[in-house]
Amino acid sequence: MNTPTLTLTANSAGPPSAEDLVDVLLSKMTLEEKIGQLQQVDASADPLPDHLIEGVRAGRIGSVINLANTDACNRLQRVAVEESRLSIPLLMGRDVIHGFRTIFPIPLGQAAAWNPELVRKAARIAALEARSQGIHWTFAPMIDISRDPRWGRIAESFGEDPHLTGLLGSAMVEGFQTADLSGHGAILACAKHFVGYGASESGRDYSATNIPANELRNVYLEPFRRVVEAGAATLMTSFSDLDGIPATANGALLNGVLRGDWGFDGLVVSDWNAINELIVHGLCEDSRSAATEAALAGVDMEMAGDAYASNLAKLVEERVLSVSQIDAMVVRVLRLKQKLGLFERPYTDPAGFDPLVSDKALDVAYQAALESLVLLKNDGAVLPLRVAGLGSIAVIGPLADAPHEQMGTWVFDGQKTDTATPLQALRRQFGGKIDVNYAPGLETSRSRSHALFGEAETAVRNSDVALVFLGEESILSGEAHSRADITLPGAQSELLARIRALGKPVVTVVLAGRPLVLSENLPHTDSLLYAWHPGTMGGPAIAAVLFGDEAPRGKLPVTFPKSVGQIPIYYNHKNTGRPPNPSEMILIDDIEVGARQTSLGMSAFYLDDGSEPLFPFGFGLSYGKFELGGLELSQQIIGLCDRLKVRATVRNTGACSGFETVQLYVRDIAGSLTRPVKELKAFKRVSLQPGQSGLVEFDLGAADLSFYRRDGSFGPEPGKFCLWVATRSDGGLKAEFSLSAQ
Ligand code: NOJ
Repeated sequence: MNTPTLTLTANSAGPPSAEDLVDVLLSKMTLEEKIGQLQQVDASADPLPDHLIEGVRAGRIGSVINLANTDACNRLQRVAVEESRLSIPLLMGRDVIHGFRTIFPIPLGQAAAWNPELVRKAARIAALEARSQGIHWTFAPMIDISRDPRWGRIAESFGEDPHLTGLLGSAMVEGFQTADLSGHGAILACAKHFVGYGASESGRDYSATNIPANELRNVYLEPFRRVVEAGAATLMTSFSDLDGIPATANGALLNGVLRGDWGFDGLVVSDWNAINELIVHGLCEDSRSAATEAALAGVDMEMAGDAYASNLAKLVEERVLSVSQIDAMVVRVLRLKQKLGLFERPYTDPAGFDPLVSDKALDVAYQAALESLVLLKNDGAVLPLRVAGLGSIAVIGPLADAPHEQMGTWVFDGQKTDTATPLQALRRQFGGKIDVNYAPGLETSRSRSHALFGEAETAVRNSDVALVFLGEESILSGEAHSRADITLPGAQSELLARIRALGKPVVTVVLAGRPLVLSENLPHTDSLLYAWHPGTMGGPAIAAVLFGDEAPRGKLPVTFPKSVGQIPIYYNHKNTGRPPNPSEMILIDDIEVGARQTSLGMSAFYLDDGSEPLFPFGFGLSYGKFELGGLELSQQIIGLCDRLKVRATVRNTGACSGFETVQLYVRDIAGSLTRPVKELKAFKRVSLQPGQSGLVEFDLGAADLSFYRRDGSFGPEPGKFCLWVATRSDGGLKAEFSLSAQ
């Protein structure tokens, strides 16, 4: 492969410096070429249409999305570099969301590991695989706070908590980008969707969002502030309308908060055709006005639309936009190409990389799947299963052997032939030692037919224990795949009930893209392991936990509701003036006929579902049993420059070794704005043998108590605080401290 050299006449002697290269190019570009750099075009058609190739040759395209392999990327790059006037390389984008060819758990599953280092490692593998195929830019992490499990894209999120999301989003950015964008296998991250998309009304994708200013600042914007601090090179605007202004036209947020307050100097790309959709939203009458709104708001590049290409030149001619405004947008694109080293190395040679799905990649995929598993119920300690004394297992359910489905949403490049299912793993590990009686019972997760129930029941009758793999196919979550009813689809609940009736121990493993409403199913299973969509190595990870080779350690990154009617339900809510009072709560079946209207108390709960969720944020069991004790604070009052040391012991009082993730929550008792009842501030995982104790220490600074206050400033407010050291968001050891004004 020959790399052409770009001939540039810089003002100074010698090779142009980084800034010079961009300046020199800019000085040579026509307006049409500049606008071309702001254009990202869909290149998924095979073969590529002539007009696209011609567009690249003419310098009318700066980036493409959806080219999938090295040959195709290099071929098109050659047109840009060798046949266009200024030899400016293309930026190749692709959605590499939870793995490229090696598929990691969906981001919500990765979040359940509460392990930023693991997220970083998975992103690193994904970046290396993608870069080896010619990809320079991924559209992840998605750091939209998600409080509504009906929303299909909750799968792609890190859940409901701003702290956890900020931490994991930053780790993902670091994994993709590394410390040096020109380094081996680094790709650009893109934090999305700025901002508020996760609040889509009723969990219906693309719906409008209405987020109060305080909530926007302190909840939805917070993870973006963190990933910008971590160096995210690009951001994507949200499709959604936010309080009357679609995010793609929101200058107050893009130019004001993002660039102004936070000093973001990277690139902002629109979401797919989102600029033209400003017309559909009803903000603009035509694409000229849409292009104006987006450009003035701070959107640098248009993804898969033609509003910029069709209008920017005219807008400059008419002086609606200035050339220097366009230049600033173009510079952001060129600077990233320069930082990636594309001017020197525009082509990709896969020989410089590990093969796809390497052993190393599979190891990380296994670890990520393993740590994502959350044990939600384990009555009678049915788990872990012991091989000794077990003659046979029944493997039931439509997701026991569904290699495509367990990969989850956003899988363009993963292949089901690389995927190890639970059935395969159980057979590989135990075949010969234990009878594995497989009967899916249902063809797919959506099947309503009971035709295969009989076979499944026979398999269970002939076995010592039933392992039932239920959930959702991958197509049931992700973009544009919201559900109004989030119980188990099809006849899965009936299948589980029929199996339960046979009297054998039942272990249910749920593979799904969201928290499902499982209230009806819980009584029908002894154990419940939540596996999300665990990716390529899901099968071996699940088998290892079921049989106790590994202890489960995941914790919920999102609240599981008892019913759809409870949504939105999340742990870090406001207190209200009348918080639920358990002693007053009388539920629907206990209300006396003719009771007085005020006899049920006057507090915030549902007559039918109380106030608690099915499983709270932060919950997850292991094979040990853990008790917290000895909570100590280094002082009762801290100053603005002090740090509070919080210590507690955790003891494994169970019979098995296991893991506990100890969590630190804080509540600001009274603020200039009302504050959440609890906020996660830190967490630490410990691994303990039976009888063993460990000391957990947290270090909390006054700055960690910061929020956007009533006057708009950011910082902590002196006053009283509560803290909890806990193993889940709804309990724990409690203490109080104060922050003084000095
Ligand atoms: C639309 C999605 O909202 C966005 O997240 C994704 O990156 C783009 N399409 C590109 O596929």
